[in-house]
Amino acid sequence: MTLTSFGPANLIKRSPETHPLTWRLRDDAEPVWFDEYQAKNGYAAARKAFADMAQDDIVQTVKDAGLKGRGGAGFPTGVKWGLMPKDESINIRYLLCNADEMEPNTWKDRMLMEQLPHLLIEGMLISARALKTYRGYIFLRGEYTTAAKHLNRAVEEAKAAGLLGKNILGSGFDFELFVHTGAGRYICGEETALINSLEGRRANPRSKPPFPAAVGVWGKPTCVNNVETLCNVPAIIADGVDWYKSLAREGSEDMGTKLMGFSGKVKNPGLWELPFGVTARELFEDYAGGMRDGYTLKAWQPGGAGTGFLLPEHLDAQMYAGGIGKVGTRMGTGLAMAVDNTVNMVSLLRNMEQFFARESCGFCTPCRDGLPWSVKLLMALEKGEGREGDIETLLGLVGFLGPGKTFCAHAPGAVEPLGSAIKYFRSEFEAGIAPVSAAVPPLAKPIVVGA
Ligand SMILES: Cc1cc2nc3c(=O)[nH]c(=O)nc-3n(C[C@H](O)[C@H](O)[C@H](O)COP(=O)(O)O)c2cc1C
Ligand code: SF4
Repeated sequence: MTLTSFGPANLIKRSPETHPLTWRLRDDAEPVWFDEYQAKNGYAAARKAFADMAQDDIVQTVKDAGLKGRGGAGFPTGVKWGLMPKDESINIRYLLCNADEMEPNTWKDRMLMEQLPHLLIEGMLISARALKTYRGYIFLRGEYTTAAKHLNRAVEEAKAAGLLGKNILGSGFDFELFVHTGAGRYICGEETALINSLEGRRANPRSKPPFPAAVGVWGKPTCVNNVETLCNVPAIIADGVDWYKSLAREGSEDMGTKLMGFSGKVKNPGLWELPFGVTARELFEDYAGGMRDGYTLKAWQPGGAGTGFLLPEHLDAQMYAGGIGKVGTRMGTGLAMAVDNTVNMVSLLRNMEQFFARESCGFCTPCRDGLPWSVKLLMALEKGEGREGDIETLLGLVGFLGPGKTFCAHAPGAVEPLGSAIKYFRSEFEAGIAPVSAAVPPLAKPIVVGA
């Protein structure tokens, strides 16, 4: 399938000045191959980085631009890069591109890789130069077969042009880049699980510390960055820190632009490159066109299944980490989902928690046992066979699986939508509790995690 739903052309005039990620996209949604990419100023930033910039200057520029990771956690990229060892004698180090993208409702990296594969390669090349990594891997979600095909062809084109391989642009710097397809598991997107999977191990997250910058893939210093993060690097290098910072709307603490989207029963589901700080209302009304006729907006999630639900009254929040934080959840991947008035929240949450339970790696008890337990309770509530106390048990699980209680952020992400759904739509959960007269046999006393 070709992704053509990249926003209505009549609404957005994409230009290099305002749309650093997407201005090179073709209207027919075909990939931009090497010749066209070069003609559209492609690899100019890489040439500048190799000819005119010391490696540490590249790191400093990215730091000064305020680029933050687009993989969901929003960690400052320049700071992460600065954690890589300075010791020049450690000459084996890796750059990994996280292209696992299995967050439900999220397809931004897929669009970049399918249609602008050279932008990612250029971003990785400049980043590799900055980090002194001689080898990179794009860890790609297994189901992204079109992206794999396009990336592999683009890697060959870049190699043929002397932009990958040995002695790039006569600099003496070597960088080999490989596309590695994963088996299509959500947990492979967690950066240390990704490292295990790349090594051929089971994709369990690793303990941090040590962080990948110290001990990463095959025990060597490793930097893991998201596709969209890396795709921001060429424009920052080409056009500078001040321009990049000027792109965001006033009030936003995050810099630059972001791929944002809206799915669900909106008139025009799609993906758009917008300045950080745009309001969710603009995204929903001006770009997604509001709800389809016959539907009303009941709730929305700002950035993937692992972010909390918000109400229509929250649509004036600005789309940046702090703006969404102010209304009580996280920006996540920035691809929002509309929940319409026909959707029952219990059924929606049952579906979501089934996904999260299935994708748990099973390494730690609260997540391995707690998520299936939440599914059982939600299934009972969905059938109207819930028992008194089930909602409190679900809220207990939200606490048991919250931040800091598990080995990685999978479980906290899984329960964030559950906690917020109960907060805003408790009556729908209560409606699933069977009347006492229905003589439903009492549940055995639940086993409390850790007791
Ligand atoms: C369960 C789970 C799944 C994740 N999936 C992805 C993913 O598909 N892509 C991604 O870039 N980051 C994902 N992350 C975040 C990564 O661990 C990591 O923070 C990110 O790749 C760092 O890149 P960035 O700093 O450029 O955002 C996931 C995290 C968790 C806990
Ligand atoms: S929180 Fe879940 S996915 Fe993460 S390590 Fe524990 S069991 Fe695995």
